[in-house]
Amino acid sequence: MRMSYKLHVAWAGVLLAGGIHQAAQAQSKAPVPQLSATNIKQVVAAMTLEEKSKLVVGMGFKMPGVPPPSKDKKNEPIDIGGFKLPPSDPDAYNIPEKVPGAAGRTHAIARLGIPSITMSDGPAGLRIEPIRNGDKSKTYYATAFPVATLLASTWDTQLVNKVGVAFGNEVREYGVDILLAPGMNIHRNPLGGRNFEYYSEDPLVAGSMTAAIVNGIESNGVDTSIKHYAANNQETNRNSINTIVSERAMRELYLRGFEIAVKKAQPWTVMSSYNKLNGTFTSERRDLLTTILKKEWGFKGFVMTDWFGGKDAVAQMKAGNDLLMPGNPTQSEAIVAAVKDGTLSAQQLDTNVERILNVIVQSPTFKKYKYSDAPDLAGHAVVAREAAAQGMVLLKNDDHALPFGAGKRIAVFGNTSYDIIAGGTGSGDVNKAYTISLMQGLANASFKLQETLSNNYKAYLVDMKAKQPKPKNFFDHPAPIPEMDVNAIVAEEANGADEALITIGRNAGEGADRKLESDYYLNDAEKGLINSVANAFHAKGKKVIVVLNIGGVIDVTAWRDKVDGILLAWQPGLEAGNAIADVLSGKVNPSGKLATTFPADYKDVPSANNFPGTPEGKPTQVIYEEGIYVGYRYYDAAKVTPAYEFGYGLSYTNFKFSDLKLSSKVFKNVITATVTVKNIGDVAGKEVVQLYLAAPKKDLDKPEDELKAFGKTKLLAPGQSQTLTFTIKASDLASFYTDREAWIADEGSYKVKIGSSSRKIEETASFSLAKDITVEKVNKALVPQQTINELKLK
Ligand code: BGC
Repeated sequence: MRMSYKLHVAWAGVLLAGGIHQAAQAQSKAPVPQLSATNIKQVVAAMTLEEKSKLVVGMGFKMPGVPPPSKDKKNEPIDIGGFKLPPSDPDAYNIPEKVPGAAGRTHAIARLGIPSITMSDGPAGLRIEPIRNGDKSKTYYATAFPVATLLASTWDTQLVNKVGVAFGNEVREYGVDILLAPGMNIHRNPLGGRNFEYYSEDPLVAGSMTAAIVNGIESNGVDTSIKHYAANNQETNRNSINTIVSERAMRELYLRGFEIAVKKAQPWTVMSSYNKLNGTFTSERRDLLTTILKKEWGFKGFVMTDWFGGKDAVAQMKAGNDLLMPGNPTQSEAIVAAVKDGTLSAQQLDTNVERILNVIVQSPTFKKYKYSDAPDLAGHAVVAREAAAQGMVLLKNDDHALPFGAGKRIAVFGNTSYDIIAGGTGSGDVNKAYTISLMQGLANASFKLQETLSNNYKAYLVDMKAKQPKPKNFFDHPAPIPEMDVNAIVAEEANGADEALITIGRNAGEGADRKLESDYYLNDAEKGLINSVANAFHAKGKKVIVVLNIGGVIDVTAWRDKVDGILLAWQPGLEAGNAIADVLSGKVNPSGKLATTFPADYKDVPSANNFPGTPEGKPTQVIYEEGIYVGYRYYDAAKVTPAYEFGYGLSYTNFKFSDLKLSSKVFKNVITATVTVKNIGDVAGKEVVQLYLAAPKKDLDKPEDELKAFGKTKLLAPGQSQTLTFTIKASDLASFYTDREAWIADEGSYKVKIGSSSRKIEETASFSLAKDITVEKVNKALVPQQTINELKLK
């Protein structure tokens, strides 16, 4: 019975494919349509099956230093320093690149006026070749903006939008159509190797930041690929790890940010992720790509795979993964064969093609935009510096240790003070013209520096760098240089300088997760450095500040009591040193707040026992046993005190919150909340206002409270106030009920908590909901295998 059904389908497919071919032949006698914004369907009808199969598969990937695949070995993987990649399309090598260093292109189909469009990384700046064909007369550097984790810490969507406007200008002026960014996966675990590319542990922050930057980029007529969709929260075995997650955690956490971004910014493309989700590659899941993304959320663009993601081109087409990147001819061949034998419907392929063409007609390449190769880099550096300073988080400031007084003499310790890290590695890296070191930034801000100490560090770094092994491949980066032993010189420094500054640095990037030893935890040399400097300076009554130049969360518990101040500078982009000096000097009053928790210890992390999965060493599966209890949702529910909670951050001034008012005590369609913030300190500053909601727990276990809105004041002068207004909608009241496949707001009493952090609640008020509201009924989707249900995922 089954066999005959299959045969029937196959035979119907042959008929259908034949039909298409005849139609194409018939069409070929008519004038060939040339693609325009108004004739897309006509162009699809005029395309041959082969042309369609080329359009849905990218042009391949030209990796610097890797030779093109030879004709007879076109199916053999390419070895890049011991790392195997599937073979590229020879076209990637034969057809000159429009933008060298861009990560991918689509095929042009000249007959129909379809141009090739260009895509390039990445989240913190455009990643293209800065110097081409050895020609040094012209350079193509891009701005390294602060990493996403820092941008999220600004809690300022207007500022992030401004970064997007500048960023998009570089995308357009360097001739790129689609930026492969932003990354917006949830910070599930502090060790995630790409956390710096992502915004937050909270989907509202991640989704709002993404929408803000995408809207800014889009204002330039270019667009983005928001990534990596979905539940791609680790790098270990990233190409095939099976991520097992409950439907509720998917809906409330891992999809939610994407949903916000799609609805608020309608990016042209979404990039599916590498991992499997509940047993199937995300790029092969129709429920994820078509049912949820396109049908439920109304996403109008196309879906592309991550580079070499997934396995089965035909399954990907069926799922609605419209474009396969970077692309290989064998994928096109498989698609042609599948349409011919009926295993892939011609209609599905047409739908995918149409979605791609819909985007192509909007692209600058299609519109023949004459790009300048000369974006306003100087102007964008100013934006990068402003954003960087606004996203730094003051974690500790005992006894007004910061800001440093004007003209103070500072002893600067720590390798990364001299070799600052602007951003992470891999496709998140940017080829920037320069990075301002912290030393340079401090000097620019007219601080006096201890010269002998600086010279010692510089000489040490030159020497150690010469001994570092060369990276084996794109994903490999050398082990960090151990901290210099300062024991012999530290007493003298404490005599000569007014204050000490120590930078602790961390770097990471795609291809690997971070480790606990010497990465999450400080190593002995770093702890030794903090101890020696703190002892020597404190003995003289002088203060010690630590700057954290990191992309992801590290341990602070073991050492924070030894120092007077801690500034979390994240990885601040190419203006790093200037931006850090802006905050240290008080030119900018810090207003950043954590968008990700710093736990008291790694063992407190809710996913600590389920990261990066099992079996140990080479995990094939990772179970998200913590369900929706990620980040503050867990720490608050489990009453575990973190080192620095979600939403936390100090200022050089103080604020007073007052007059929280709700528009009604009873919820109808919407409630507005207003609250006043007053600067009651001595210097001007900005405050982030966070609205958390505690929902009644009726039939469902729910977090203590969840962030539902946030805002940031303008720069308030001492004594100045501002009233902020927030809107609470029915969807903000709802939780996802898996059994009912619906978002439901439960009747009962809701508490609004206005916080200056998730644990510092300044004002509260309540309202009630008289009757349950089914806010949205959705499709059954993403169901984990039964065995997993038995684990009772939350
Ligand atoms: C990364 C993507 C990136 C792509 C193209 C992949 O390895 O996961 O984030 O956009 O490469 O460079």
